[in-house]
Amino acid sequence: MKRILVTGGAGFIGSNFVRHMVTKYPDYTMINIDALTYAGNLENLKAIKNNSNYLFVKADIRDRVKMDEIFSGHDVDVVVNFAAESHVDRSIVEPEVFLTTNILGTQVLLDTAKKHWSVCPNDKYCREYKPGVKYLQISTDEVYGALGKTGMFVETMPLLPNSPYSAAKASADLIVRAYHETFGIPVNITRCSNNYGPFQFPEKLIPLMINNCLKEKDLPVYGDGMQVRDWLHVADHCTAIDIVLHTGVDGEIYNIGGNNEKTNIDIVKLIIQTLGKSETLIKYVRDRPGHDRRYAIDNTKITTQLGWVPAYTFKQGMKETIEWYLSQADWVENIVSGDYMEYYDKMYV
Ligand code: NAD
Ligand code: TYD
Repeated sequence: MKRILVTGGAGFIGSNFVRHMVTKYPDYTMINIDALTYAGNLENLKAIKNNSNYLFVKADIRDRVKMDEIFSGHDVDVVVNFAAESHVDRSIVEPEVFLTTNILGTQVLLDTAKKHWSVCPNDKYCREYKPGVKYLQISTDEVYGALGKTGMFVETMPLLPNSPYSAAKASADLIVRAYHETFGIPVNITRCSNNYGPFQFPEKLIPLMINNCLKEKDLPVYGDGMQVRDWLHVADHCTAIDIVLHTGVDGEIYNIGGNNEKTNIDIVKLIIQTLGKSETLIKYVRDRPGHDRRYAIDNTKITTQLGWVPAYTFKQGMKETIEWYLSQADWVENIVSGDYMEYYDKMYV
C-alpha cells in the first residue's frame, strides 16, 4: 500500500488523519484532495504541507474528469473518503448539496476506482482487482437513527437515518456495499460516533460552546439538552481507520466508538467549569427538527477482531482540546471572521 488518496483531507477528521499518516508512514504517499468548501481549511495542514510524501490537489469528488486525471496521474491504490457535507443543522436548511456530494460524489469515486483498479475493466462479470487496492468509506453512527434509553448500535442493524445528512450518508453506505456485492471491489465502511478534538469547525457542539464561552456569548442548548452522544477523540478515530485500512476484512463494516456517552448539557457544563465561566450563559433554544435522542456504539467487532483500543479518556481529551482552542485563537478568529458569522446569525439569532 503506497499511494493513498484522501478526500476531504482539509476538514476536521481528514486533516487529523493526513497528519497522522504522513508522520507515521514516510514510505506512503498521501494525496489529499479537497474542494475547500467553508469547512475545508489548509491551515489545518500547515505542519506537514512541505513533507515530501504529501501532496494537495484542490478538486471536487463529483468531478469525474478530475477524479480520472488524479487516479491516472498518481497511480492511486487506496481511497479513504472523508469528503462530505457534515453538519446536520445545515442539512436541514439546504439538503441538496448533501445529496450531490455525499451520495453522487461517493459513486464517482467508486466508478473511478473500479475503472483504474479492475484487471479487466471492459468485462462486466470481472471481479478481479490489482493486488492491495482498497476503498474505505468514512461513515457515521447517525445512519442507524436514534436509540431510546437502552441498547447500542451494532453493524447488522437496519439503517434508519432521520436527517438529510444521515440519510445521504446511509445512501452512500448502500452504494459502497452494492459496488462490493456487484463488482467485487475491495471495500470497508467505518461508522464512528461523534468526534471532538483539535481543528474542529466551530459550528459543531464542542468547539461552538468553547468559542462562545470564551467570548461570554449565549450557549445555545437545543431542547432540554438531555440528548446523548458517544464522544471519541479524533486521534482515536484516526488510529481506528489506520487499523481498518491495514487489517480490515474486505466487505466488512466496522463501528468505531469509545463507550463514552454524555448528555449535551453535561458537556456544556464541563466547558463552562473548565473555563471558569457562569452557567447563566446557558440558553435553552428551540429543538432541532428530527433531533436524534441518543447514539451509542457497540465497538465489540473492531476491538475483538482488529484489536483497536482508544487511547484517550474523555477527561484528558477534553482538557487538551480546550487548551488547544485557547492556544489557537488566530485559527478560530480566521474562521469566525468569514462567512461563519452570517451562518451563525441565520441559525441562532
Ligand atoms: P468536515 O465538514 O470538517 O470536513 C469535510 C471536508 O470535505 C471539508 O474539508 C470539505 O471542504 C470537504 N468537501 C466537502 N464537499 C466536497 C466535495 N464535493 N469534494 C471534495 N471535498 C469536499 O467534516 P468532518 O467532521 O471532518 O467529517 C469527515 C467525514 O467523517 C465525513 O464523511 C463525516 O460524515 C464523517 N464523520 C464525522 C463525524 C464527526 O463527529 N465529525 C463522526 C463520524 C463520521
Ligand atoms: P453536533 O456537534 O452538531 O453533532 P451531531 O448533530 O452530528 O450529533 O451536535 C451534537 C449535539 O449537540 C446534538 O445533540 C445537537 C446538540 N447541539 C446543541 O444543543 N446546540 C448547538 O448549538 C449545536 C451545534 C448542537
